[in-house]
Amino acid sequence: MNMGMVTLAAIRSVPMATTYIRGGTVVSPTGCQDLDVLIDGERIAALVDPELAPFDDPDRTFDHVLEAKGKYVIPGGVDAHTHMEMPFGGTVASDTFETGTRAAAFGGTTTIIDFAIQRQGERVQDTLAAWHAKARGNCAVDYGFHQILGGVDTDALKAMDELVAEGVTSFKLFMAYPGVYYSDDGQILRAMQQCAGNGALTMMHAENGIAIDQLVAQHIERGETSPYYHGVSRPWELEEEATHRAIMLAKITGAPLYVVHVSAKQAMEQIAGARGSGANVFAETCPQYLYLSLEEQLAAPGFEGAKWVCSTPLRSHEEGHQEELWRYIRTGDVATVSTDHCPFCFKGQKEMGLGDFSKIPNGMSGVEHRIDLMYQGVVNGKLSLQRWVDVCATTPARMFGLYPRKGIVSPGADADVVIYDPDGRTSIGFEKNHHSNVDHSTWEGFEVEGCVQTVLSRGTIVVDRGRYLGRKGHGVFLKRGLSQYLI
Ligand code: URP
Ligand code: ZN
Ligand code: ZN
Repeated sequence: MNMGMVTLAAIRSVPMATTYIRGGTVVSPTGCQDLDVLIDGERIAALVDPELAPFDDPDRTFDHVLEAKGKYVIPGGVDAHTHMEMPFGGTVASDTFETGTRAAAFGGTTTIIDFAIQRQGERVQDTLAAWHAKARGNCAVDYGFHQILGGVDTDALKAMDELVAEGVTSFKLFMAYPGVYYSDDGQILRAMQQCAGNGALTMMHAENGIAIDQLVAQHIERGETSPYYHGVSRPWELEEEATHRAIMLAKITGAPLYVVHVSAKQAMEQIAGARGSGANVFAETCPQYLYLSLEEQLAAPGFEGAKWVCSTPLRSHEEGHQEELWRYIRTGDVATVSTDHCPFCFKGQKEMGLGDFSKIPNGMSGVEHRIDLMYQGVVNGKLSLQRWVDVCATTPARMFGLYPRKGIVSPGADADVVIYDPDGRTSIGFEKNHHSNVDHSTWEGFEVEGCVQTVLSRGTIVVDRGRYLGRKGHGVFLKRGLSQYLI
């Protein structure tokens, strides 16, 4: 770890509004070390050897001193996959940029990357402008955009280069949702070729949507209409097949590939195999696939399972996907853990699918709980402290061209810092305990060890011991560079 440590004289010379985080253990992907953190305005100025004890120095005072004894000091989380206000299935995800980024802040996430959405016939640049308008002036923490391409044509391909220049350097394509966001293999090939040329990252929703739609129709026709059949109609084979196809198309075009929300161990085998052969293929998974299942959540009595309808779906506990996903986090084949945060209220939104699971809007909440749920993985011996920080902050920042501004506690980086209490507990399973604009909890019954104590976003304290001190409009748009994470 590069400590960037300084002398007392250097600390004296830091001129601006300062915050000093004292007594904590700074965690990075490469190590843990007892270091104080000096923040100057919006940036980290220095990591300080605690022995220097600058408090005893009469020539140096600080505007804020935050005590972090016995706590971890980690970079603010980077959630590279959220959908605030996403239109889906005739409704719109219930978190706005305001409510969703406030929830993110409560959970120690200080950067989100959301998705602007283009559909067939729409001008890509117009759709990006529309998403800028939704987010601008409303966010509690910093944000960037990926661009979803739902209609790859000649104009869209040209627009991709323009977007890269504007800091939107990743494009999501869908092999699922025919007639909505779906791209056929020819469109995917063309978009990947464009990415291979302009350096952007292709993100893939890898499920064979054409086959899935047939299975869905057959279940509905047989009267199998409950949320459980959402999972049954999207078998792992169709995630594995699509993942394999995406990898082959990426290989042919030379484009790097980032497969989003991987839930099947067989899809991970494809990705690990491709990585083993040296291909620039990366996987993202989400906490829901590490903890929740087809049997326990989607098969809940009555229509309750609708709360957990998302795609790719929760997988069967018996098939051992969760353990394999944790293992792939440890091996590094899962590069990032994001949330795919896309909440819909049970009342009036999920209920649109009463009597027909295919009409349930896909998605669940999670932006507030990722850091805690992954810390529970540390407690459970599933991953190391360093890897916790890596998958939640550092690698997403590198993957999406934000590093070293984001994702690391290091001199020069934005002062996005979380003081995390390993001795705390967080009850995340109650609606009243979360800050998303949604009427139920994805994490019903969950209580986890560890808790977010204090959150700083660009040097400003936005959350302290459960109190919100931030403001709408503090968060700024992040113009991203190209991905910095090639094998
Ligand atoms: O169910 C999900 N994942 N909803 C959000 C859209 C997507 O495919 O990521
Ligand atoms: Zn998706
Ligand atoms: Zn998504």
